[in-house]
Amino acid sequence: MDHEHHFQTFYEPFRIKTVEKIKHLTQEQRVQRLEEANYNPFMLNSDDIVIDLLTDSGTGAMSADQWAGVMKGDESYAGSPSYRKFEKVVKDIFGFRYVFPTHQGRAAERILFQCSLGDGDLVPSNKLFDTTQANVQKYGGKAMNLPIPEALDINRKIPFKGNIDIYQLKDLLTSQQESKIAMVMITITNNAISGAPVSMENIKMVSKLCRQHGIPFFLDACRFAENVWFIKTCEDGYAQRTPLQIAREIFSYADGCTMSAKKNGLVNIGGFLALNDKDLAEKCRRELIISEGFVTYGGLAGRDLEAIAVGLREVLDGDYLRYQVGFVKMLADLLIEHRIPVLTPPGGHAVYVDAAAMLTHIPENQFPAWALVCALYVEGGIRCCEIGGVMHGRESKTTKSEDESEDGQGELVRLAIPRRTYTESHIKYVAEVFGYVYKHRRKIGGYIITWAPPVLRHFSVRLKPMTPSVKMEEVEEGQEVARQVQGCCNSFSRLVL
Ligand SMILES: Cc1ncc(COP(=O)(O)O)c(C=O)c1O
Repeated sequence: MDHEHHFQTFYEPFRIKTVEKIKHLTQEQRVQRLEEANYNPFMLNSDDIVIDLLTDSGTGAMSADQWAGVMKGDESYAGSPSYRKFEKVVKDIFGFRYVFPTHQGRAAERILFQCSLGDGDLVPSNKLFDTTQANVQKYGGKAMNLPIPEALDINRKIPFKGNIDIYQLKDLLTSQQESKIAMVMITITNNAISGAPVSMENIKMVSKLCRQHGIPFFLDACRFAENVWFIKTCEDGYAQRTPLQIAREIFSYADGCTMSAKKNGLVNIGGFLALNDKDLAEKCRRELIISEGFVTYGGLAGRDLEAIAVGLREVLDGDYLRYQVGFVKMLADLLIEHRIPVLTPPGGHAVYVDAAAMLTHIPENQFPAWALVCALYVEGGIRCCEIGGVMHGRESKTTKSEDESEDGQGELVRLAIPRRTYTESHIKYVAEVFGYVYKHRRKIGGYIITWAPPVLRHFSVRLKPMTPSVKMEEVEEGQEVARQVQGCCNSFSRLVL
């Protein structure tokens, strides 16, 4: 991108070849849809959404080269050339000896933990994603999340907030628990810590410690390329290295990785498990055949393997990475201009908004982050994800999540950016809606849960909005809303700001 030396204007480094119409509902229709969905945006029909920022997983756009790969996909049961293409690219970037395709990231996690964990085994980490943690627990293990202390302070602005606390890890490795540690796993970037990256120095230190103690070191590599870009741009000594060189260095320190290609594979479905140990590979191969499919396709079609092979090359293109990380930062900057409290510096896939700081009049037990998510849908048709009291089951003993004591990240709303899908004007629209919601924030009321499943409740929980005891029409900007609430409301006039 030579233009950057002369021009300031940001542009997406691609042209759009296929488009999809965005349907517009009236605000009244959106209120009705939300009510029908029991105020749970997971239950909305995605046709009824203007900008969908619920997740960056599998929601991106594929390139013309990836679609060409799809057409070339060979669907033979065994020995497909599409597999060989996929394997060659994965080995070239990740460098591991054995590569197993899986239908998505969590299948790779399941196979890895099923084949390597015993009862009571420990898996220390910078913080595991929830499916990863659930798979560790399913096979008798215990996840130990050891993020650096600064990671839990949403106001601390340091570049590699995703790092593992190396001192705690060292203590653990020299404690009596050492023999129970089955592996160390580092998530890059750290989705559970506002998408923050992990430094090469941290990865190198973990690797050294693990090798000294003979403990396998795995990476959850879902967003490895975005992590690479942060190392290139923020860590000393990497500015002149190519993304591919940096990626190879990262993986050279590890014994294997799990991968959800739905993120940095730039595809809509797929993943893999890659590792070096021959005996473990043999066990994984057996398990793969039983549950996912033959070793040369895993849970995927040949066409999916082709698309991943191309996507893994494209994701390491410097122009693409500069755009992707810059696009996320652009949203964060625009929100800050509208006085929205966002977690900074933003990571590489999402912007996290501190809903508790934005909606100070809603107490935590009335779910301010959930209230913000619903208000954004009603006002602008924007869907995003609550990471707060509803997801973590904070107020309820019976649904308390295992990692509750560690989440410490309050009431957040995550705006995940589907890759290569939205344009700068979509992002400006999102910021404008936020600005409007912020201006009228005092009119937003809290929510109560009317029904919840025992686990992973945010996917199917049902809620109702509460009505502040003062009339909405009387509430002006800057005026305190009484905290006391009287029952529920579900009418159009009460939800619209
Ligand atoms: C860090 C991380 N690891 C693992 C996964 C699981 O991947 P998948 O959804 O492909 O099963 C996700 C999904 O969002 C993730 O963010």
